[in-house]
Amino acid sequence: MTEYTYEFRPGLEGVPVAKSSISYVDGQRGILEYRGINIEELAQKSTFLETAYLLIWGKLPTREELNRFQEDINRHRRIKYQIRDMMKCFPETGHPMDALQTAAAALGLFYSRKAQLEEEYIREAVVRLLAKIPTIVAAFAQIREGNDPVQPKENLNYAANFLYMLTEREPEPLEARIFDVCLMLHAEHTMNASTFSAMVTASTLTDPYAVVASAVGTLAGPLHGGANEEVLLMLEEIGSVKNVRPYIEHCIENKKKIMGFGHRVYKVKDPRAKILQQLAERLFELTGYDEYYEIALEVERVVEEKLGHKGIHANVDFYSGLVYRKLGIKPDLFTSMFAIARVAGWLAHWKEQISYNRIFRPTQIYVGEHNLPYIPIDERS
Ligand code: SDX
Repeated sequence: MTEYTYEFRPGLEGVPVAKSSISYVDGQRGILEYRGINIEELAQKSTFLETAYLLIWGKLPTREELNRFQEDINRHRRIKYQIRDMMKCFPETGHPMDALQTAAAALGLFYSRKAQLEEEYIREAVVRLLAKIPTIVAAFAQIREGNDPVQPKENLNYAANFLYMLTEREPEPLEARIFDVCLMLHAEHTMNASTFSAMVTASTLTDPYAVVASAVGTLAGPLHGGANEEVLLMLEEIGSVKNVRPYIEHCIENKKKIMGFGHRVYKVKDPRAKILQQLAERLFELTGYDEYYEIALEVERVVEEKLGHKGIHANVDFYSGLVYRKLGIKPDLFTSMFAIARVAGWLAHWKEQISYNRIFRPTQIYVGEHNLPYIPIDERS
């Protein structure tokens, strides 16, 4: 019998993999802070770009710093025609997260291949990625419909410009503000799977485009960012309030995960879900009632009743889809919205990681055999 020197924790539960001052989660009390500032306060008072600056550089920018940051990002919103033309060759039926991952990696073809611990290099990479990722997402959404991408519009802010490129309609100020708040809420969340993936990639000192591309691939899965798309599919499948209880009971009996619920860290309702629910309600006042909201409320009620005692509550992905749907965004693009926002967190961790870098190289517990003979192919059963 092998003696194990290490304790094995599936999913690395509770294992710290970094020291970080970027964000903080108290899962028992439902508190999330970015650089020490409560997410509720940021959602009320800040903007996505200001929050991105805070996450990446560790302090709120002065007016001058913020203006320069916004101007730099505006200047870099366009993407190279080669990237656009490359996306024209993607299958229209391909998932937008796969298109984003490919295009994000392709940005690395144009810029430096190495991570450099130089302020100017870091700033350029941050500006380019924050500026170009939304353009890539919107461009693929247009291209797959047979349209040319919509060019960024100079006078529109970050959120409004993205919605404009996506829908070819200038959003109402409230719609743009609500989308901007969604971006803030999704910008960062301590050591989640995609951030860990970004950090593992970053630790090899490869370029930040590869870092973001690997993180996009990790975010796409249904247990992580992909859950927001799955929630909408689930609400569609349930179809009406009266079907909710049997649907949830069937899931529980068959040990099927209910999308948008549960969290490794939160044992109470995710604070972001509370804010997203409020945002959804504000949007309904502007754009009208949403039949799926009643279904969602009933799903939450039944899941609370059945699984609340196990610490399973609504997470960030449960209400976000209802907001995006009201903004005219198609369900298979929901996870890309998460990605646009999370670029800020990934880059904050990239910058932090390379400032004290040591390559990630964990270990394993070998459970295989030793000293087996090589059996010639004709003698194998
Ligand atoms: C995000 O980590 C982050 O910070 C992520 C995130 C971020 O901002 O980056 O917050 C974003 O990824 C949100 C999560 C989105 N995913 C989903 O909504 C998918 C559904 N949820 C789950 O699969 C699950 O809750 C996870 C993946 C979120 C957490 O997985 P864990 O911590 O590994 O928990 P687990 O799967 O081991 O579940 C523990 C128990 C099990 O029951 P028992 O076997 O102990 O009896 O809780 C049950 C699970 O069956 N459970 C659920 C459930 N989630 C957990 N049962 C039914 N429905 C669920 N959703």
